[in-house]
Amino acid sequence: AQIKEVQFVKSSGKAKDCPKDDRPEFAMLGRSNVGKSSLINALVRMKEVALTSKKPGKTQLINHFLVNRSWYIVDLPGYGFANAPESARMDWSSFTKGYFLNRDTLVSVLLLIDASIPPQKIDLDCANWLGRNNIPLTFVFTKCDKVKKSKGKRPDENIKDFQELIRKNYQEPPPWIMTSSVTGLGRNELLLHMSQLRNY
Ligand code: GTP
Ligand code: MG
Repeated sequence: AQIKEVQFVKSSGKAKDCPKDDRPEFAMLGRSNVGKSSLINALVRMKEVALTSKKPGKTQLINHFLVNRSWYIVDLPGYGFANAPESARMDWSSFTKGYFLNRDTLVSVLLLIDASIPPQKIDLDCANWLGRNNIPLTFVFTKCDKVKKSKGKRPDENIKDFQELIRKNYQEPPPWIMTSSVTGLGRNELLLHMSQLRNY
């Protein structure tokens, strides 16, 4: 599962503008600031192939990156923008729903969950929406390197809480991987997981 080459292909504003070919792809989805773009950079070991920011809302379009000329990794805008009114929060759906429902080459959504905070309703809603629409899903916990804040729980405790909530809704819970873009935790595991899914 080695990465030899990564090319940025294009940014698309709509599902129908995405690259048209048969190569399999994986989409990075999750709340704004969860670390989607950072994880892409960590996976491909390049600093800013995907642009990141401390401020939420950095990624605004569907960005296709071609890996080893054979499969795509897709960076998406985040949902749940912290400062937006409730009505605007599920806006990701109107924009990227079309992408999820119509992208035949989508192998799996990588749904990123911030392990440094307690389970968020919006993430559970998102997982349930994907499940209802039969879109394959892998949970990727991010920021597992973070140490607990004085009052909060540790990343492994937040992950356990999240998994308990997920188990209530699934007979067979989706696979999950713990990662950190800072330490490289989970990088090999995630690359191997993606290569296994591509070869099914
Ligand atoms: P949007 O494009 O706004 O949806 O955000 P994003 O999900 O792409 O997040 P991004 O990768 O831009 O990262 C947001 C912030 O989190 C940045 O300040 C990153 O440095 C930080 N960050 C991302 N991944 C990690 C991680 O694994 N550990 C730690 N400690 N910080 C991280
Ligand atoms: Mg981003």
